[in-house]
Amino acid sequence: MYTVGYRVHGVLTLGVTLLALICAMASLPDNLNVPSPSVSVQVLNVNWFRKQPTGNDEVSLLLNISADFQSMLTWNTKAVFVFLAAEYETPQNALNQVSLWDDILPSKKNPKFWIQTINKYRFTDEVSNLLGKEFNLTFHWYVIPKTGKMFADKMVMTAYRLPVEYI
Ligand SMILES: *[C@@H]1O[C@H](CO)[C@@H](O)[C@H](O)[C@H]1NC(C)=O
Ligand SMILES: *[C@@H]1O[C@H](CO)[C@@H](O)[C@H](O)[C@H]1NC(C)=O
Repeated sequence: MYTVGYRVHGVLTLGVTLLALICAMASLPDNLNVPSPSVSVQVLNVNWFRKQPTGNDEVSLLLNISADFQSMLTWNTKAVFVFLAAEYETPQNALNQVSLWDDILPSKKNPKFWIQTINKYRFTDEVSNLLGKEFNLTFHWYVIPKTGKMFADKMVMTAYRLPVEYI
């Protein structure tokens, strides 16, 4: 024989279990299908490239960035955080990563965009000389779900070599 209090507790427990189950199922499709966005990045121009008074090299780039995240989106997607990094090797570090640009695409917004922009964050190197340096342009993305685990991936775009002289 159940008391009222006991039944209420039972209903609550069932509700919580169902909720957990729905959340688990909701994040399942994200784990099963891992599509890739289509991304394209080009360096259109080196606006300037100079040695700062402090001795650091600094470069300003004009970038052409386009991406289509449509195939990545599910009803469970809250937003997609994207960033573009210049990645290169120096004698001091196997991987130097300089973030050049980033954005947050809310899932309600069209997850397709195209912009021409200068690097939003400074591209400088304190230790090494960037003259003639080759770097990878790597596009990173983080899919932030409404429930479940965040999903991150990246795509190495074109390698680009900086000029051998300051301009
Ligand atoms: C910039 O990217 C867009 C989309 O990928 C492309 O259609 C266009 O030709 C690019 N512009 C230049 C100048 O490369
Ligand atoms: C640049 O990309 C290539 C190809 O994916 C990779 O082999 C190389 O290690 C990358 N370089 C750096 C510094 O990440």
